[in-house]
Amino acid sequence: MICVIKKKSYLKSQNLKVFGQGKLNGIVKISGAKNSALVLLAASLLTNERIILQNVPRLTDIEKMSNILKNLGVNLVDKNNTLEIDSHNISIKELPYELVNGLRASFFCIGPLLGKFGEAKVPLPGGCNIGSRPIDEHIEGLKALGAEILIEKGIVKANIKGEKSRLTGTHIKLKCPSVGATETLIMAASLAKGRTVIENAAREPEVQDLCQMLNKMGAKIFDAGKEKIIIDGVNKLVGCIHKVIPDRIEAGTFLIAAAATSSSITISPVIPNHIEAVTNALQKSGSKITIKGNSITINPRELKAVNIHTAPFPGFPTDLQAPFTALMTIASGESQITETIFENRMNHVRLLNKMGANIKLNKNIAFIKGVKKINGMELVASDLRSSAALIIAGIVAKGTSRIYGLEHLDRGYENFESKLKILGIKITRELNKRNFTEKEYKIATGHDDIPKRKVA
Ligand code: EPZ
Repeated sequence: MICVIKKKSYLKSQNLKVFGQGKLNGIVKISGAKNSALVLLAASLLTNERIILQNVPRLTDIEKMSNILKNLGVNLVDKNNTLEIDSHNISIKELPYELVNGLRASFFCIGPLLGKFGEAKVPLPGGCNIGSRPIDEHIEGLKALGAEILIEKGIVKANIKGEKSRLTGTHIKLKCPSVGATETLIMAASLAKGRTVIENAAREPEVQDLCQMLNKMGAKIFDAGKEKIIIDGVNKLVGCIHKVIPDRIEAGTFLIAAAATSSSITISPVIPNHIEAVTNALQKSGSKITIKGNSITINPRELKAVNIHTAPFPGFPTDLQAPFTALMTIASGESQITETIFENRMNHVRLLNKMGANIKLNKNIAFIKGVKKINGMELVASDLRSSAALIIAGIVAKGTSRIYGLEHLDRGYENFESKLKILGIKITRELNKRNFTEKEYKIATGHDDIPKRKVA
């Protein structure tokens, strides 16, 4: 319940004060991937033996997922960035609404619970600020594996049809290469009877990391990272030690921040081919990228406008669309940013325009004319990745900015402002003495050094 209390205190108490026209310099350590660690935590339910997860980022989403597992009866020991997970004592198969609320990834538990115990009750994950986030692909795939699914009063109740004690392998063709649905179905199929083939599977590195860990646990999964994945179900999965892959979205965020401030930095560890679409776009926009093993150095020489089009991996990741849009606001020339994955992931555009950017939005396409400068101001982020975009904009802007809505930022970036501070950015997390009404952010009393504007 800590998170819920923290969320309330965030609303009333914290903001990031960013001094503009900053430069980054040095080496930044990239944390473990949020979107891998979350699904690996869910996958630990598939075995009675101990799982040791290393390189786990300290994030509120991870804290929430850990609380959910503990509520199921899992014994989870948190040793800083290592989690020791022991699921042999699971007592209940129902996830409580108050813990699930606000963590979409909690829905990942349905696959392991159904695959291992033959039953699961998981609250429907709500939509969020970036889209409706349906789960039809998860549901249809689980039914194809032999599950009976009932949705009653917002709870997804799943069990195995007929007298069978296990799911049955089958051929599934996804309508869209959904990351979550691919992961749910891989986990469910890993303990099914027989072979499952998933066509039009998601190819993201986080899906590959899940398959790596499951195979260490004794699963038989082939061609992870390809459009067609094969899973031969086994009777039992055992414990293992697994290190979470580096977070490609955090890595890309820092490279974009460096390009936006004409700074040269090195990021490590990173798996270069996980962010090839991003480094290619940065090279096209005028930065020199040097790859040495598991580190990448960026040397921006100029900043030219380039067009990007988000797409499933290995295309340009939707999670870096907002930070890249912030970058293009000050690039020379005209660029076009097209968001194809989520229906409502352009919330940052309005705020960037308030700072002085020149962006015309037509549905999910942003037409950007680069400007010489943008101005610092008070900004309220409305989702995880737009909060990173606004911080980058604040670093670039003339004058000082204050960014609110840190409950979003801390979901997905570990020690973000501390890492920026080490790189030379003047940024401080402040406790705030102002009154906020829950429904909207109203800046009650101003600070002379920042232009006062009401933001969305
Ligand atoms: C995962 O979300 C990530 N989250 C997201 O990261 C990421 O943006 C997304 O994949 C795309 O890469 C985690 O891994 C925890 P999807 P997920 O299912 O699995 C549609 C971040 O910022 N769809 O691949 O929910 C859906 O509407 C977060 O770290 C269906 O139609 O994404 C969307 O348009 C945000 N039916 C598209 O597929 C379904 O059953 C991609 O969604 C499922 C999805």
